[in-house]
Amino acid sequence: MSAQDSATALEDATSAASLAQAHRVSEKIKAAIAKDPSSFRVLTGDRPTGNLHIGHYFGSLLNRLNLQQQGVDTWVLIADYQVITDRDGVGPIRERVYSLLTDYLAIGMDPEQTTFFAHSQIPELNELLLPFLSLVSDGELRRNPTVKAEHEATEGRALSGLLLTYPVHQAADILFCKANVVPVGKDQLPHLEQARLIVDRFHKRYTDGSEEARIFARPQALLSEAETVLGLDGKKMSKSRGNTIEIGMSADETAQRIRKAVTDSDRHITYDPVNRPEVANLLLLTALASGRDPQELAAEIGDGGGGALKKMTTEAINEHFAPIRARRAEYAQNPQYLEEILQRGVEKAREQAQATLGQVHRALNMVYF
Ligand code: TRP
Repeated sequence: MSAQDSATALEDATSAASLAQAHRVSEKIKAAIAKDPSSFRVLTGDRPTGNLHIGHYFGSLLNRLNLQQQGVDTWVLIADYQVITDRDGVGPIRERVYSLLTDYLAIGMDPEQTTFFAHSQIPELNELLLPFLSLVSDGELRRNPTVKAEHEATEGRALSGLLLTYPVHQAADILFCKANVVPVGKDQLPHLEQARLIVDRFHKRYTDGSEEARIFARPQALLSEAETVLGLDGKKMSKSRGNTIEIGMSADETAQRIRKAVTDSDRHITYDPVNRPEVANLLLLTALASGRDPQELAAEIGDGGGGALKKMTTEAINEHFAPIRARRAEYAQNPQYLEEILQRGVEKAREQAQATLGQVHRALNMVYF
């Protein structure tokens, strides 16, 4: 093994160990939440770059809904400033922000229990970026594997200062509201590590280090256990590939998309994610939407081929999403209500951000009158 190879192997082993560790922590958090949901505050967020699809739904939204239903104080950030980390413009941002909010409400997130807000409306959250940036080095930011991967995905675009520093901005998202749990996929683990470093360094550098002087909780990741669903072509589900089913699509649009889904030439349907990823993915989607077992569904279809499979997938998804889509349509007809919900969330988040920034200013002795 070359030195380079062993360095990579070591890195892989280290990240596998920390992933295993992150899973253990997640298990503990889950048990603790079940026991006493009131001692947790959850923050999650989405970038308003497009419409939410069923990959988001089965991968993270259901998880959030479940936390809210257990009685955890849930905060949901629409991360509008993150939109411009790696692209030239914001796109139809207003429509997208409200589309996200509509999806959240349609799936059953309750504005009485969940606080919805957007970055751009909370100046005091954004200001936290300044003291936090004093606590990280440029080398640390450049080494962040998620930032690196996101930069590579832009194919030759210059790395913007905002992309480089967004993990610190994200730390501000989490820390301003004193969230102690952040449900994420494993790609976001480096950001949680960064946020904990910021907490530790802040207390060490800017306070006397005592327990009473602590301002921030150390946030932990709650790893999603959901199986990753793929797009209809068997590749990563993403809007740019046109392989998604959006939560807000009609039943007809859904049927059309699934009709074009990739399968294989073997008419005998089996659930074999390794050798038949496209067929397995349609079975998995059907299983998730209907609450049934993918093996059992495969056996039921037997020699029916891709056509029978697609029919079953379409029916299961359309049935599952019918009530959600009906509610979505209702909310979409009431923009005034949506504005009210967002405004209420923003007011609450802003109050919290002002209080936290006040604590930070006091820790920094930046209080002049
Ligand atoms: N980066 C997240 C994403 O791309 C969105 C996000 C912004 C977020 N701020 C956050 C997630 C804080 C968790 C916590 O999906």
